[in-house]
Amino acid sequence: MITRELGRTGIKITDICLGTMTWGEQNTEAEGHAQMDYALERGINFFDTAEMYAVPPRPETQGSTERIIGTWFKARGSRDKVVLATKVAGRSPMTWVRGADEARLDGGLTRLTRKQIDDAVHGSLTRLQTDYIDLYQLHWPDRAIPAFGFHTWRDYPQDFVPFEEILDALGRHVEKGTIRAIGVSNESPWGVMSFIRASETKGLPRIASIQNAYNLANRVFEYGLAECCMREGVSLLAYSPLGQGYLTGKYRNGALPQGSRKQLFNRLQRYERPGADAAIAGYLDAAAEFGLTPTQLALKFCQTREFMGSVIIGATSMAQLKEDLDAFDLVWTDAMEERVNGLHVAHPNPCP
Ligand SMILES: NC(=O)c1ccc[n+]([C@@H]2O[C@H](COP(=O)([O-])OP(=O)(O)OC[C@H]3O[C@@H](n4cnc5c(N)ncnc54)[C@H](OP(=O)(O)O)[C@@H]3O)[C@@H](O)[C@H]2O)c1
Repeated sequence: MITRELGRTGIKITDICLGTMTWGEQNTEAEGHAQMDYALERGINFFDTAEMYAVPPRPETQGSTERIIGTWFKARGSRDKVVLATKVAGRSPMTWVRGADEARLDGGLTRLTRKQIDDAVHGSLTRLQTDYIDLYQLHWPDRAIPAFGFHTWRDYPQDFVPFEEILDALGRHVEKGTIRAIGVSNESPWGVMSFIRASETKGLPRIASIQNAYNLANRVFEYGLAECCMREGVSLLAYSPLGQGYLTGKYRNGALPQGSRKQLFNRLQRYERPGADAAIAGYLDAAAEFGLTPTQLALKFCQTREFMGSVIIGATSMAQLKEDLDAFDLVWTDAMEERVNGLHVAHPNPCP
């Protein structure tokens, strides 16, 4: 297992991270525990979760994923074996994420105000049964921005909690020791650079990572963010490396496997846009040409990017988890690089 530094923090993370967001909805507590046991056995030291999980987000299951990790820490006494990343929800109308009364204070929204950040940290620590979080990420910005598959820019409302204020709120937790490092998620180049400028001019904590979607069908990160992040020492933590399952080929030709995310929840429209089908088919065919499974091609592609900090995998069965981890054993060749880059030029980012 390869380890890398998380940003400039000195914290060592494996370049494969265990995603958790299905635990508490698609997966039971026992299944979550089994996945964490197996991931540790395979040498993974990095887990990613969020206060909002499980997904799809709903009030009845909010916090269940963190609770499952908490009971595992308690049962195994394994807190010190894991670099644990969690997230605070950004601006949203999901007031139930943090308690309706509190959110009402900020216009009926979850916001990244100091008070809401304090409450969110406290909630996560309690559910996780720990007294510190290794990496605390802003799940999405306080700014209203196009994210999660939106294609176009418009003049979004400009009232947002200033970068300095957010960093100061996080910095107090860093001082107290409740947070070790901070990161962003679903961020833009302007957001990344604004956070860095605020930390440098005001002596506030510096973001170590950005967690954005990144996969063969969505290389948008490479256009503006890759340069910012590489030059500024911000690690990419790539989510949805398998395009939520699409890049495994499981939905090819209209297939709808029983128990799959699409069959259960039908919210994968990000991977069903015009042009997505042809691009994904191209990658599935390319994998076959090289004698690979589509999963091998998709995961190894992510891991071999120069700017990659860690690839966040997600699995709903032990067989998937094993297949996903084994996929990284592949040796990436120049021919594979050329083939996927050719497909990227022919079908640029159908699933941003
Ligand atoms: N920051 C954010 O906004 C954000 C957003 C999304 C995810 N994340 C993080 O990233 C993690 C991974 O995201 P993701 O779940 O979207 O990743 P993904 O790797 O693109 O998709 C994972 C899903 O694909 C299917 N799958 C996985 N391995 C497979 C295999 N070998 N064969 C067939 N199907 C397979 C499973 O779903 P089915 O079995 O249901 O088909 C699995 O849940 C999450 O757990 C979370 O920690 C963060």
